[in-house]
Amino acid sequence: MNNLTRTLGITYPIIQGGMGNVSNAALAAAVSNAGCLGMIGAGTMEPEQVEKMIVETKQKTSLPFGVNIALSVNKHAAELLELVLKHQIKVVSLSAGNPAPYLPKLKQHHCTVLTVAGTVAQAVKAEKAGADIVIGEGVEAAGINSPVETTTMALIPQICRAIAVPVAAAGGIGDGSGLAAALALGACGVQMGTRLIATKESGVHANYISAIVSSRDDGTLISGRTVGKVRRVLPTPYIESVFQAEEKGMTVNEYLDATSEIRHLSGAIEGRLEEGFLNGGQISGLIEDTPSVEALIKTMVAEAKTSLSSAQQKLPM
Ligand SMILES: Cc1cc2nc3c(=O)[nH]c(=O)nc-3n(C[C@H](O)[C@H](O)[C@H](O)COP(=O)(O)O)c2cc1C
Repeated sequence: MNNLTRTLGITYPIIQGGMGNVSNAALAAAVSNAGCLGMIGAGTMEPEQVEKMIVETKQKTSLPFGVNIALSVNKHAAELLELVLKHQIKVVSLSAGNPAPYLPKLKQHHCTVLTVAGTVAQAVKAEKAGADIVIGEGVEAAGINSPVETTTMALIPQICRAIAVPVAAAGGIGDGSGLAAALALGACGVQMGTRLIATKESGVHANYISAIVSSRDDGTLISGRTVGKVRRVLPTPYIESVFQAEEKGMTVNEYLDATSEIRHLSGAIEGRLEEGFLNGGQISGLIEDTPSVEALIKTMVAEAKTSLSSAQQKLPM
C-alpha cells in the first residue's frame, strides 16, 4: 500500500488515463477489475453518452473507477460535474484546463480529485487548489501535451519535490520497468494510455492496434507545434495532410478543427486512416502484443518487482 493506492482504494498503483472515445465502459471496468483504477474518458461526449457509460461501467464492476473531464475539450464540463455527483462517482480526473473553479464542489462531495500537470507550476497550483493526486505527464505521452514538452524523466522528480500530495507519472510507461522507474523517481504510481489501448478489452479499430504494435521507438510525431499546440500521434495519411497544411501556415482554429475529436473517432474507432488521426505515445515502440488487461497488470507488477531488486544490485553497497 502507498498513499496513492490507499487514497484511491485500489490494489496496484496503476491508473488508466482518461481517453476520449477510447476509455469506454468495457476497458475502464477491466482495469478496475484488475485491481487498478479504471477511468472513463468523457472526451467531447454529450452528458447523456457519458451517463450511459457510467451506468454500464457500474454494471461491469463493483470496484472504484473514475471519470476524466478534459475541461477545455468538453463544452459541457459544468454539466458533467453535476452528472458525476449525481452518480456518486468518487474519483474525478480533471485535465486540459484550470481545475481550480471545479475543486470546491467536488471536495464538498468528498470526491478524490486527480489533476494532470505538464509543469511544476501547474502541479503546485493544483495542490493549492485542493487536488488529492497530481498526474505529472511528460511529452512522451499520447495525445494533447504541454507545449513546454518536458519529459517524464525530468518532470516527475521535480514535481515530487515541489508538492506533498501523491504523484502518478504518465507518459512513456508500458511495462514493469516503467512502473519501477516511476516509483524510483518519487511517484507513488503511474497512469497509462497507449499500453492499455493494445489490450483485448479495448474497443478501438484493428488498424489502431496494428499501428501501435508495428511502431518503432521513432514512430510517433508531434503535430501542432506551429500553432503552439502539441499532440503526439502515430503516422497516418490524414495527419500527414495536417502537417502539410501546418507547413503552409495554419491558424490555431484551423488546426484545432483539423484535429477535432471527430477526426480522432474516424481514425481510432472507424479505422479510416485517410480521414482521421491516431493519438499514440512513444512507448508504442515497446508494445508487441495485445494481452488481456488482467494479464498485462499481473506481468507489469511482477516485472516491476524484479526491476527494482535488480536495480538495487547494480549499486555498490
Ligand atoms: C486515444 C487517447 C485519448 C486521450 N484523451 C485524453 C483525454 O480526453 N483526457 C486526458 O486527460 N488525457 C487523454 N489522453 C492521455 C492519457 O490519459 C494518458 O495520460 C497518456 O496516454 C499517458 O501517456 P502514454 O500514452 O505514454 O501512456 C489520451 C490518450 C490517448 C492515447
